[in-house]
Amino acid sequence: MNYPQIIQGGMGVAVSSWPLARAVASQGQMGVVSGTGIDTVLARRLQLGDEGGHIAEALKHFPIPEMATRVWDRYFIEGGKAEDAPFKSKPVPSINPSAALNDLLIVATFVEVWLAKAGHEGLIGINLLEKIQLPTLATLYGAMLAKVDVVLMGAGIPRSIPGILDQLAKGEATEMRIEVSGGEPGLSTFDPNDYLPGTLPRPKFLAIVSSASLAQVLAKKAHPPVDGFVIEGPTAGGHNAPPRGAMQLNERGEPVYGPRDTPELEKFRDLGLPFWLAGSFGTHDRLLEALAEGAQGIQVGTAFAFCEESGMADGIKAEVIRRSVAGESEVFTDPAASPTGFPFKVLKMAGSVSEPEVEAWRERVCDLGYLRELYRKEDGEIGYRCPAEPVELYEKKGGDPANTEGRKCVCNGLLATVGLGQIHRGKAEPTLVTAGDDVAHVSRYLQPGQETYSAADVIHTILGTHSNF
Ligand SMILES: Cc1cc2nc3c(=O)[nH]c(=O)nc-3n(C[C@H](O)[C@H](O)[C@H](O)COP(=O)(O)O)c2cc1C
Repeated sequence: MNYPQIIQGGMGVAVSSWPLARAVASQGQMGVVSGTGIDTVLARRLQLGDEGGHIAEALKHFPIPEMATRVWDRYFIEGGKAEDAPFKSKPVPSINPSAALNDLLIVATFVEVWLAKAGHEGLIGINLLEKIQLPTLATLYGAMLAKVDVVLMGAGIPRSIPGILDQLAKGEATEMRIEVSGGEPGLSTFDPNDYLPGTLPRPKFLAIVSSASLAQVLAKKAHPPVDGFVIEGPTAGGHNAPPRGAMQLNERGEPVYGPRDTPELEKFRDLGLPFWLAGSFGTHDRLLEALAEGAQGIQVGTAFAFCEESGMADGIKAEVIRRSVAGESEVFTDPAASPTGFPFKVLKMAGSVSEPEVEAWRERVCDLGYLRELYRKEDGEIGYRCPAEPVELYEKKGGDPANTEGRKCVCNGLLATVGLGQIHRGKAEPTLVTAGDDVAHVSRYLQPGQETYSAADVIHTILGTHSNF
């Protein structure tokens, strides 16, 4: 594969949606859609009336038409739902998903990848989180039906994924071990023959890692090995790998990273696989630096998160750009916010759950369930719990109440941030905005006299090819 220098990082939920990935790939770089929460994204876009008719267009190309019709009929609302009406719920992820949930996952991922790939010859990837295991098999299958070029996965050790991709490509049944807290792992299974027998193109697989030791496992012990790495540092947006060793907090309450957290690039070079560097690499100088280190290029998220084609709500983008121009940007690496337990970068924003007064009125609810952990109940059955759900419920399920402190509902918050927020008991779910340290510098992509910038502006700035350079 002819890999480009710039990978536009996958950004969930629906921040890096098909319009952004398509814009980036049209410029000859790699566009990446987010596969996180993709079933909810499609179900809600259909309830908003499929603005622009894009979903309907993609579905004309879906190879199992009766499945597309089932999903369409279940969620589509002509002209869109009333503004103050809640979105219809959809099945939450589970180890034994219903046929309806698998239908929705496969159709949703197909639509997203198909739309991202339309109209250019560039590469399209899909980003998934290892931590969110339950929807993975159906999501990968939907992406492969749309001929996704690359799968990128971080937030865990995605050792089994290369083998799963091989099996799905051959049209064979596959399975994946699912972590169960304090007990034997569970098993998620998927058979493509239940849908469409036959072979599919096998995408490449890039693992997103922060240390060479993890990369060595994935290069030497995964069968087949991974195809390359994105090496992400702790200034990147979204979730960050926790610091090595016991977590120390600075005076602001953020995790402290030290020299042990700096990836040993010579070990990556020794592996002989292509790698991209991520975390504040969105400038021409930083690209040159990465290339000089032997990298294939860089992965950039924050710069793209606030460009015109990103899914982030326009008001949030405008405020972030204004702060960057005014020198007022500030990011907090929150060690507790994410139910995953990973540090999560949060921007303070009026009306967002970053604000204590918003947290105070928001009622805890877990109705999306992507970040729920599986545990064994006393009767041996599998149960589900999330430290951001109501504390009494979490405790009743054997969870430690101390683990609920400071947790935010990342699922609802991120959906609100892209204009797909739920209305819960008459109140709109508040937003939750994440960005890397580079958010302070997004004004560098503005062209003279402009208040917004495009994905192409970001790419030209990084490549040093803007006409005014
Ligand atoms: C808004 C936002 C959401 C993100 N969501 C994800 C995600 O869902 N999965 C993931 O692997 N990385 C995610 N990231 C990380 C990016 O893919 C990328 O690696 C990172 O942003 C690179 O560092 P930078 O932010 O300094 O450019 C996210 C980043 C941002 C800014």
